[in-house]
Amino acid sequence: MTGCPQTELVAVGGRSPERVQRFTDRFGCAGDSAEALLEREDIDAVYISLPPSLHGEWAARALHAGKHVLVEKPIATTAAEARAVVSLAEDRGLVLRENFMFLHHPQHDAVATLIAEGRLGGLRSFRGAFCFPPLSSEDIRYVPGLGGGALLDAGVYPLRAAAMLLGPGLRVAGATARVRRSDGLDLSGKALLVSPSGVLASVEFGFEHTYGSSYSLWGAGAKLTVPRAFTPPPGYQPVLVLEEQDHVEQFTLPAADQLNRSLAGFAAAVAAGGAAASPEEARWRQDAVATMELVDAVRAQAVPVTVEG
Ligand SMILES: NC(=O)c1ccc[n+]([C@@H]2O[C@H](COP(=O)([O-])OP(=O)(O)OC[C@H]3O[C@@H](n4cnc5c(N)ncnc54)[C@H](OP(=O)(O)O)[C@@H]3O)[C@@H](O)[C@H]2O)c1
Repeated sequence: MTGCPQTELVAVGGRSPERVQRFTDRFGCAGDSAEALLEREDIDAVYISLPPSLHGEWAARALHAGKHVLVEKPIATTAAEARAVVSLAEDRGLVLRENFMFLHHPQHDAVATLIAEGRLGGLRSFRGAFCFPPLSSEDIRYVPGLGGGALLDAGVYPLRAAAMLLGPGLRVAGATARVRRSDGLDLSGKALLVSPSGVLASVEFGFEHTYGSSYSLWGAGAKLTVPRAFTPPPGYQPVLVLEEQDHVEQFTLPAADQLNRSLAGFAAAVAAGGAAASPEEARWRQDAVATMELVDAVRAQAVPVTVEG
């Protein structure tokens, strides 16, 4: 917001007046409770970065108040909850986007171009992973009641990437999860999927690993790897690695700020109006629901392995 000229930060909301004050002092905006924020007439849109269990509820409250919504991933904690909030956005004619920033990075357009040019040959498999080291024990990701767990926090990235690259209609064929003995919270997991055209996909996620944020696509002619797929910093120049039988080629791409691109895209959608009838906005909403359907299926099928955690 502060770095995106298409948006103006008007006010910030939070539970603690002291925390809100720190933010307003730093960014020179107004501050209030979240409830009061939604009543302000000088706010067109809200960005919701609460813990996941509160996303559906607060997105719905914001939509009811007539605000466009950019909500952090995951849009909700179940597909049913995602469908409800999507349907509300449609009824109200408001923009509702899930803030998967990586979708805005042009490195994935370069991947799509290599596929379209036939460099990979017929696609056989996709493999995606988002894993990182343990967090502070106080972190919201360790609280089941706040929508914690590795699937909702990290697993959604490779699931969304698989859908981005293989298209709609993915089915979950199996899953496993390492779950904490004390309360069953998933610390990491893996899932196997299949696309309608028969491409196999596997995704891995967790917060008990060294850092990894990558995907690869393997075809009959070559394998393509994106080593920094989900969280490339703004100054990072992505490198795509194409491996053929007797040849390895690297493509170094320009740096891009995916956060600013996400904000700019959202602001443009708000400015354009007509969210209910816009095919692009419909796709954002459908993709958000489809990701949550995959999450539900992984959760339902995951064979748990109990671990100390
Ligand atoms: N797109 C990305 O790259 C990215 C990166 C990081 C996180 N995220 C997403 O952003 C969301 C927040 O993650 P985070 O790491 O930023 O979380 P966080 O800092 O722990 O929480 C964000 C805010 O939520 C409020 N909050 C915390 N616990 C709460 C509770 N029990 N009840 C009500 N409000 C509570 C707090 O605001 P107040 O105390 O001021 O009310 C806090 O500042 C998650 O959905 C996460 O997946 C996305």
